[in-house]
Amino acid sequence: MPDHSATSPRPLRSSAAGPLSGRARVPGDKSISHRALMLAALALGESRIEGLLEGEDVLATAAAMRAFGATVTKGADGIWRVTGVGVGGLLEPQDVIDFGNAGTGVRLCMGIAASHSFATTFTGDASLRGRPMGRVLDPLRRMGVQVLSRAGDLLPLSLKGPDLLVPIEYRVPVPSAQVKSAVLFAGLNAPGTTTVIETVATRDHTEKMLAGFGAGIEIEKVEGGVAIRLEGRRDLKCQSIVVPGDPSSAAFLIVAALIVPGSDVTVEGVLLNPMRVGLIDTLLEMGGDIAIENRRNVGGEAVGDIRVKASRLKGVSVPAERAPAMIDEYPVLAIAAAFAEGETVMNGVGEMRVKESDRIAAMIAGLRANGIEARDGPETMAVTGGAKEIGGGTVKTHLDHRIAMSFLVLGLAGQKPVTVDDAAPILTSFPEFETILASFGARFEPAEPALAT
Ligand code: S3P
Repeated sequence: MPDHSATSPRPLRSSAAGPLSGRARVPGDKSISHRALMLAALALGESRIEGLLEGEDVLATAAAMRAFGATVTKGADGIWRVTGVGVGGLLEPQDVIDFGNAGTGVRLCMGIAASHSFATTFTGDASLRGRPMGRVLDPLRRMGVQVLSRAGDLLPLSLKGPDLLVPIEYRVPVPSAQVKSAVLFAGLNAPGTTTVIETVATRDHTEKMLAGFGAGIEIEKVEGGVAIRLEGRRDLKCQSIVVPGDPSSAAFLIVAALIVPGSDVTVEGVLLNPMRVGLIDTLLEMGGDIAIENRRNVGGEAVGDIRVKASRLKGVSVPAERAPAMIDEYPVLAIAAAFAEGETVMNGVGEMRVKESDRIAAMIAGLRANGIEARDGPETMAVTGGAKEIGGGTVKTHLDHRIAMSFLVLGLAGQKPVTVDDAAPILTSFPEFETILASFGARFEPAEPALAT
């Protein structure tokens, strides 16, 4: 996998170039793309996946599924075809599995590898090697998996499943769809019922897709949350999947259109799953002119076209309960907040600290470098809008695609250009970011490498 910590950085600058206008489709949803490849690799027969995100993170998952014995190809028609090995049928990988920057990829994949009695070794780039894996390893250990890892349960690490995995009941201690999914994926090959109890709802793509593939899954309201029960050792049936557009990528186009005066942009075919639209709800509360058109259903998920016009925004307090529905969108919300009247306070956002970078620290530093007042607490981030002169700074992106894209959006609306020290990680999730925004009228230019500090 490309390791952007090992290659030369690609500094990039964005600057104001007048209103943005046009229509575009964003690439497929990253969460759904990872899950589609993994479940297809465990199913019997050939699955078809249309609209798969072809960013580096998802391509790492495709490579991993091949390493486990599935056949994964892309046809001339653009459709990906995966021939699965059946539940419990993964082969021992011949080499270390390198997930690059992909946290979702590696954590979910640990779940599926866990139920096989061979050793798999996982690694990733400098960012991924610093991210906590214990949240997934803890329940897997309870299921009988042996783990050999660096101190603090960091990558690289090896895991080896027992001959027979123990089905467990697991109450997820952090609101994390990745942890929930890893346990359920492990449970696919455990005898009996694996139960995950979620006290705070998170994105439900795994549950929906497991049902679609014919897994024995039941969801029941229980005291204080929801119990997701999965009957293990059932065959999965191959599927035809259409991946809707990624709302976490659309977010950058939406915020750009809101803050660049005179803009009018439509983003087509965006996933509108209720657990993914927290940013849109928040931007509407801030006074954003956002309309959802052509609502439809694609493969069991709500989808629509989102039309956004430049708007006067006002600061709001975003409730902590909304965090799981917009966890990846706070960086770009902070950019919108810089153009709002008053302060925007984001509550309950502590999980931002363990994403591709410590996103609270990275955002605060980047905002201040560009003349914007921002403050943080352990679980909060707050941004004051209306600075007289925005821009002019160089931002450290810490191998984090969303930090890079957020600040490039800032430069489109600031008084002065904004430079990011490395735009290369954008390829992990949204390779079309620059070309789509350029087609709307945005201006990007290569910048000089930052001086080493
Ligand atoms: C994801 C879940 C979220 C999110 C990540 C994708 C998923 O992480 O931040 O980008 O696809 O399950 P957590 O589950 O750790 O909150």
